[in-house]
Formats: sequence, C-alpha cells, structure tokens
Amino acid sequence: MASELSILGRLQESQPGKGRPARPSIVQVDHPAVSTRNVNARYGPFLALRNVSISAPKGEITAIIGPSGCGKSTLLRSLNRINDLIPSFSLEGEVMVGDQNVYAPEVDVASLRRRVGMLFQRPAPFPMSIYDNVVYSLRLDGRQSKRTLDDAVERCLQQTALWEEVKDRLKDAATGLSGGQQQRLCLARTLAAGSDIILMDEPCAALDPISTLRIEELMRDLRGTVTIIIVTHNLQQAARVSDYTAFMLMGEGRAGELVELGKTDAMFKDPVDKRTEDYITGRFG
Ligand SMILES: Nc1ncnc2c1ncn2[C@@H]1O[C@H](COP(=O)(O)OP(=O)(O)OP(=O)(O)O)[C@@H](O)[C@H]1O
Ligand SMILES: [Mg+2]
Repeated sequence: MASELSILGRLQESQPGKGRPARPSIVQVDHPAVSTRNVNARYGPFLALRNVSISAPKGEITAIIGPSGCGKSTLLRSLNRINDLIPSFSLEGEVMVGDQNVYAPEVDVASLRRRVGMLFQRPAPFPMSIYDNVVYSLRLDGRQSKRTLDDAVERCLQQTALWEEVKDRLKDAATGLSGGQQQRLCLARTLAAGSDIILMDEPCAALDPISTLRIEELMRDLRGTVTIIIVTHNLQQAARVSDYTAFMLMGEGRAGELVELGKTDAMFKDPVDKRTEDYITGRFG
C-alpha cells in the first residue's frame, strides 16, 4: 500500500497539471546566504518561534509575511543577534550566515551586525550630519583618509539615489531629511558599513507611496550584490518586490511557525498550503 502511494505520488509529479503541483511547501535553496535550522526562540518562558527552518538565497529578495504577532520580527532579529539585547530572549537551533553559525561562541557580534545590516520601521539616522551618518562605521575602523570617506559618501548616496538631493548639504543634520530620505540614508549607511545582507522590518510602513516605491526600486537595484530579507504587512509589496516569500502563522500556544516558503510567483498564484491561500486571498489576518 505504501509503495503504491509513493508510485502515485511520483506519477503526479511527472504529470504536471494533474492534481496539485508536486512542490514542497518549504523550499530549501542550495548555498543560502542566511538559513535557520530548527530554531525555537523564547522571551522568558514564552515560545515565540517553533522549529523554524528557513533559507534565503544569496543576492535575492525574500519577503516574510504573516499576521501580527506570528514572530516575523523575532525571526528577523534573530538573524543578526539584535534580539540578544533583550535580556529574556533565548534561542535554540542554528542560524547560519553562509557557513558560520552566528550563535557560536567565537562569533564577534559587532562584525556580524555590520555584515548583516538592518532597517527598521521608523528610519533611525544617528543624530549627526548626513555625511557622518554614512561614514560612521568606516570611522570605527580607525583613521581613514578624507578622500576615502568622501568617496564612500558619494558612492553610497549614489547607490541609494540620494546624492543629487543632498550633495550640497552633507554637513546638515540627518534628522532634517524627510522620512523617505532618512530611510535611504540608513540604507546608504548599511552599504558603507559593508553589509551584504540587509534585514528590513517593515521599512516602508512610515513612508508615503512615492517614497515606498523608491525604496522598492533600490531593493531591486541591489539585487545580485546584496541579499535582502524584508518583513512586510503589505502583500502587494511582497508580490512586487520579492523573489521568494515565507509565510508564517501562530500555531499552538501562539508560537510562530513557518507554513510555506517558495518562489513568490508560485506562492501567490498557486499556494501549496490551504492556510497560505486563505491569508493571501484576505480570508484572515
Ligand atoms: N521583547 C519582548 N518580550 C516579550 N515578548 C515579546 C517581545 N517581543 C515580541 N514578543 C512576543 O513575541 C511574539 C512575536 O512577536 P513579533 O514582534 O516577532 O511578531 P510580528 O510577527 O513581528 O508582529 P507584527 O506584525 O505586529 O510586527 C508576540 O506574541 C509578542 O508579544
Ligand atoms: Mg514585527
């Protein structure tokens, strides 16, 4: 009986169009830039993530979607150990950046957070000039020539399409920029720091539609050189901008679980899991 079933399974796989497509609900990519294996995360005794195994392909954009409270930010903030700043936080399982387990004792957390940069819902420029924001990390490296710093400022502000808007006021306070400009400045700052993985937690939630589209454009420009993982409540944004989408839900005891992960086109057109379908068609959440 078991062997008949597996033959049936294979038949369906080899006959596209017959029944549901033979896609796994959770795709694991080869050589991911970031991956987790069997991650459980807790705040004190509360289990916020249960057994989450996710992988994000190098140089591509992965969106994380799901209803409020399902653990999207917790997952994102576990990837560069920003959640370590919360005393009650604990994690079991593996978080890999390339082939390095980022929770291994020898890991230098400051360099990890430089390599794996982050953008938040509210743009958070440092209270200093536009110029000083961009070169903040470079200066931490010790003495750098003015020329090196100037070059980095121009290159990174060009990359985030901000150069033309601010080149004549680089010494002005960054807090005087509009919200959208501030978010692009924060992106420039992570690029100048050398991040090749950028985590974004609802980076457009506080922005107007035009600024939102500009950020999305920049994300697409960075594709290929930077790996992006973005949490968004905006399903159209996930569909527009991402290559892969991960869908999370609260399971038993309100613990966040990964329900489905796959190519964005396939997931939005033909989700494997009924719960994904219900969510993306707006039946709940
Ligand atoms: N610092 C914290 N201390 C205790 N519990 C927390 C903390 N941060 C988050 N939680 C809990 O962990 C669970 C997951 O929260 P998380 O912020 O990761 O969800 P989310 O999917 O990002 O939600 P949202 O879409 O509203 O941002 C929630 O039940 C939340 O109350
Ligand atoms: Mg969140």
